[in-house]
Amino acid sequence: MKKLLSLTILFALGVATLSLYSCNLGKPKKAEKLFTAVEVFPTKPRPAGQTHVLELRAEPLEEVRIAIIGLGMRGQGAVHRFSHIKEARIVALADVVPKNVDLAQKALDSLGRPAADGYTEAESWKEICKRDDVDLIYICAHWDLHAPVAVYAMEQGKHVATEIPAALTIEECWQLVNTAERTRRHMMMLENCNYDFFEMATLNMAQKGLFGEIVHAEGAYIHDLRFLLFDEEKGYWDMWRLKHNEKKDGALYPMHGLGPVAHALNIHRGDRMEYLVSVSTNQFGLTEYAKDKFGKESDYAKRAYKKGDNNTTIIKTAKGKTITIQHDITSPRPYSRIHMLSGTKGFAQKWPRRGIALEPNAHNYLSDDDMNKLLKEYEHPIVKEVGEKAKLVGGHGGMDFIMDYRLIYCLTNGLPLDMDVYDAAEWSSIIELSQISVANQGMPVKIPDFTRGAWNELKTVKYHTKD
Ligand SMILES: NC(=O)c1ccc[n+]([C@@H]2O[C@H](COP(=O)([O-])OP(=O)(O)OC[C@H]3O[C@@H](n4cnc5c(N)ncnc54)[C@H](O)[C@@H]3O)[C@@H](O)[C@H]2O)c1
Repeated sequence: MKKLLSLTILFALGVATLSLYSCNLGKPKKAEKLFTAVEVFPTKPRPAGQTHVLELRAEPLEEVRIAIIGLGMRGQGAVHRFSHIKEARIVALADVVPKNVDLAQKALDSLGRPAADGYTEAESWKEICKRDDVDLIYICAHWDLHAPVAVYAMEQGKHVATEIPAALTIEECWQLVNTAERTRRHMMMLENCNYDFFEMATLNMAQKGLFGEIVHAEGAYIHDLRFLLFDEEKGYWDMWRLKHNEKKDGALYPMHGLGPVAHALNIHRGDRMEYLVSVSTNQFGLTEYAKDKFGKESDYAKRAYKKGDNNTTIIKTAKGKTITIQHDITSPRPYSRIHMLSGTKGFAQKWPRRGIALEPNAHNYLSDDDMNKLLKEYEHPIVKEVGEKAKLVGGHGGMDFIMDYRLIYCLTNGLPLDMDVYDAAEWSSIIELSQISVANQGMPVKIPDFTRGAWNELKTVKYHTKD
């Protein structure tokens, strides 16, 4: 498979190089089209008998019986949040570390919820997926397990929600899409940042036309995680995240920045991401940190980490918009997801400071008072409904609770989920596509159309309600 991929890339590069020569690159007279983005992964044809799952509706569930796979830092939070949703019941808990299962059981008990069955084998998730009394498999394990468990769960007739990313490779993205289309099960990637308060308000503003036509958007995952990456006791299980940074370079975690702006831009509901270019700095920070912390002769200091400190990926859409995504988890700097929307009538940005600017005075930010009034006026109806409770239950200030609340709300009302399998595939696909672009000096790489031509059928992103 790897060999086939290398051959495809070599062939594509060959074609691009030939085109450059034939266009007399030596003496370009002006900016002119020399070649098109390289299609390393052509869009796969839809297997016979399958149809798309845009706005998929499944039978409404009275109660959602949930199995949580992976009970580390993130899984424990999910146990807590679901315990505050009466239509949700956790029936199975799985982790290879038995004390994590015990901790989750204790949380259920202390929150007055019934005990769940505990599992501790590495492949317990297979047994759990086969149970008749489970409706939703909720995956909070490390990245490598997300797509395999999700695919298997759908095969067993279960709905799936997985922590981000949903997939690590394009091949996994297609497996998710094809399995969801064939089994007609919901597959949602748990992109909690779409539900943050400013993001929800600016989505509402965007949908009501306040920014005019949104032309450019920016997002990021800038979060100094060095202390966790190297913490063998309290950090990630089996150092899984450090291992990914050792092996790959690119936008390894694009979803937090991309999800909210992709919805504001109606990606695959009227527009689609067509190609990307991606460039990384070299790697400096991990090595320096490891030297300072463990000594220059330590194993950690001597490892050859591949992930450049800062990655920037630029995506162009079919309708001519651009999205910039940054990834940096190893530099000492304040947290930021940027979340910027720039349109023909206005602008909004969340980091480094919240600001909104509107025509006819978009040279200046609105005063904080005026911005806060506007944010109140455009508060998203879902935030109006559940925002206060979300702040009390918590999870990144409440956005995690809004996400879980919406998931259960849609499943119990038989509604399409806010984020579908195409969102999961598109946002996750940036991971492998950016690695290819980075490895080839920012070569433009085409993004597969996971909807296979249906991206223009819906005209806007819609978070459905029963009324
Ligand atoms: N959306 C967010 O804001 C957010 C925040 C943090 C983490 N995450 C994501 O959540 C996921 C988990 O991250 P984390 O920080 O909790 O990592 P973690 O290492 O703390 O947790 C992973 C858990 O999976 C368990 N595990 C390993 N193999 C297993 C198996 N075969 N079956 C069941 N469990 C198994 C580990 O024992 C561990 O408890 C990652 O995808 C991460 O990117 C998302």
